[in-house]
Amino acid sequence: MFRKIAITAASLLALSGGAAMAAEGAVHIEDVAFSFEGPFGTYDEHQLQRGLQVYTEVCSACHGMKLVPIRSLADEGGPHLPEDQVRAYAAQFDIFDAELDDTRPRKETDFFPPHNDPNAPDLSLMAKARAGFHGPYGTGINQFFQGIGGPEYIVAILDGYTGEEKEEAGTVYYENHAFSTGWISMAPPLFDEQVEFADGSPNDVKHMAEDVAAFLMWAAEPKMMARKQAGFVAVLFLGLLSVLLYLTNKRIWAPHKGKH
Ligand code: HEC
Repeated sequence: MFRKIAITAASLLALSGGAAMAAEGAVHIEDVAFSFEGPFGTYDEHQLQRGLQVYTEVCSACHGMKLVPIRSLADEGGPHLPEDQVRAYAAQFDIFDAELDDTRPRKETDFFPPHNDPNAPDLSLMAKARAGFHGPYGTGINQFFQGIGGPEYIVAILDGYTGEEKEEAGTVYYENHAFSTGWISMAPPLFDEQVEFADGSPNDVKHMAEDVAAFLMWAAEPKMMARKQAGFVAVLFLGLLSVLLYLTNKRIWAPHKGKH
């Protein structure tokens, strides 16, 4: 018995020690108060539309989003663009159609184009593939309210350049405090006032980074709002069920318990 407890304690210690070490090596990522966080959070349609614009005008020069269907741009709870705008958006990008044996403009039922730069990773799931919050900060109840920090990580990368660069074996690396190795091969993609928003929203690097990060979060988890609503209804239902069960139980045992 004692041996079992000792082994369990030792392995727990080893585990938590490992976690603490991982947290030490990790970069500190600032939290951003995104509209979609928390149990009742929803995507901000206008922010997603601005993010789409930043993605299209800047990021898509290198990156792709091959897992995201273009038609989802019309989804309620997402960017919610009118159907004709979605169709026009799709038609900007050509795709090779094996049936025609030729290229044709994309339709809204096609997916976003894949990457142009083979070194640039696909961004479809990036907001969920990276975690910004590590260690105790990124687990438990905190994660419930703030998520794992994927979009925060993207903001930190886009806004984390120091301006230093170096060349190694023919590749230029840019110093970036948010990147795990400290040096990233992506040149700083954003600069102030690069993208002109129709609604006159602020277009400094920080704001554009937040907009595109929110957009990428939506791309990675388009049904987040439906999931949260279903979860809320389930919790409400289970709560009600518990109360009813408690009352039923009391009534069933009432004749056998209490005052005699
Ligand atoms: C000039 C090409 C280019 C442009 C434009 C560009 N990227 Fe990148 N990006 C890259 C390359 C190359 C990498 C791989 C970097 C590495 O692993 O060192 C990368 C990596 C990334 C990563 C992954 C970092 C990681 O943890 O692996 C993210 C996130 C990212 N880019 C987001 C963006 C966003 C958002 C935009 C638009 C605002 C953008 N990129 C514009 C070339 C580009």
